[in-house]
Amino acid sequence: MAINKHGLIFLTALFIIQIINVRGGSIYSGTLQLPPYGGIWCACSDFNTTYISFSIRVSNTSMNVTPGFPGTTVPGSTPRNMSKYLPAVIAYQMTASNVTLFASNVSHTNFQYIPSLSCYEKPVQSCDQDVGDLPLDDNVSQCLAVQNPTGQPVYFNLSISWVKSVFVTNFTSPDVPGGHESLKKSIAVSSKQVYGFTQGLICTFMVLVISKFLH
Ligand SMILES: *[C@@H]1O[C@H](CO)[C@@H](O)[C@H](O)[C@H]1NC(C)=O
Ligand SMILES: *[C@@H]1O[C@H](CO)[C@@H](O)[C@H](O)[C@H]1NC(C)=O
Ligand SMILES: *[C@@H]1O[C@H](CO)[C@@H](O)[C@H](O)[C@H]1NC(C)=O
Ligand SMILES: *[C@@H]1O[C@H](CO)[C@@H](O)[C@H](O)[C@H]1NC(C)=O
Ligand SMILES: *[C@@H]1O[C@H](CO)[C@@H](O)[C@H](O)[C@H]1NC(C)=O
Ligand SMILES: *[C@@H]1O[C@H](CO)[C@@H](O)[C@H](O)[C@H]1NC(C)=O
Ligand SMILES: *[C@@H]1O[C@H](CO)[C@@H](O)[C@H](O)[C@H]1NC(C)=O
Ligand SMILES: *[C@@H]1O[C@H](CO)[C@@H](O)[C@H](O)[C@H]1NC(C)=O
Repeated sequence: MAINKHGLIFLTALFIIQIINVRGGSIYSGTLQLPPYGGIWCACSDFNTTYISFSIRVSNTSMNVTPGFPGTTVPGSTPRNMSKYLPAVIAYQMTASNVTLFASNVSHTNFQYIPSLSCYEKPVQSCDQDVGDLPLDDNVSQCLAVQNPTGQPVYFNLSISWVKSVFVTNFTSPDVPGGHESLKKSIAVSSKQVYGFTQGLICTFMVLVISKFLH
């Protein structure tokens, strides 16, 4: 397939925009799968921060998982009788050292989380939390840990950032257990400046196209 001069200029411009998006984006969005029977997915900032913003949407059906999404998945325990829930999750916001405890299961009850930034009182299908104007006490690596309380794999969409709000309208999770979840209000997730993994793919594709063309 031949690409003309205008096509090349267009692609180059798009390519530069993609790079800016990737560099300045800092919001991670994608679809994840949680193993059943208490399986965990968690991710931490790779820098010290007092901020986090995230949005979880659980799917009732299986979805295609985003390849290469950051974070770690920990399998659940052996199959056992579980309460019958809809597909749902428990979400905890905590520090990296606490996540290590939580995920390693060594002292399962000893981990501490921030109640006002967690959705933990019952399994939920959505969880929107934002530090907003109430910065976290500890300036350390901050994490989100999501657990599957059901006997089936659970799929969910996630947008997360340790730099800026993932929501169209920014807000502050109130300092009460369950935080924003206690308000039972849903907030639209920002679709702008999302570090999409499809963008990463488009980037790679364009590098290939352009390098081939310039040969
Ligand atoms: C983050 O904070 C910890 C503890 O305060 C410190 O040991 C570490 O060097 C810091 N890391 C970075 C990347 O600044
Ligand atoms: C947290 O620590 C990092 C370096 O580890 C620093 O760049 C940042 O400004 C600190 N944030 C706050 C709110 O103190
Ligand atoms: C999850 O994201 C996919 C792709 O963007 C979308 O098609 C789907 O409706 C979303 N599901 C939920 C439960 O938000
Ligand atoms: C999943 O199913 C429940 C119960 O039927 C429903 O309330 C909920 O809205 C559904 N969630 C999605 C994302 O479709
Ligand atoms: C699981 O529960 C069902 C009914 O609630 C029961 O019939 C079954 O024996 C239980 N299985 C185990 C392994 O406990
Ligand atoms: C867990 O987090 C709390 C603050 O939320 C912190 O004080 C405590 O040191 C952490 N625990 C471990 C084992 O790092
Ligand atoms: C993990 O934690 C659960 C619940 O506290 C406990 O029943 C189980 O024995 C633990 N497993 C390991 C390997 O420590
Ligand atoms: C929302 O964003 C604006 C502009 O970035 C900022 O001034 C304001 O403090 C933010 N509000 C909350 C609740 O985070």
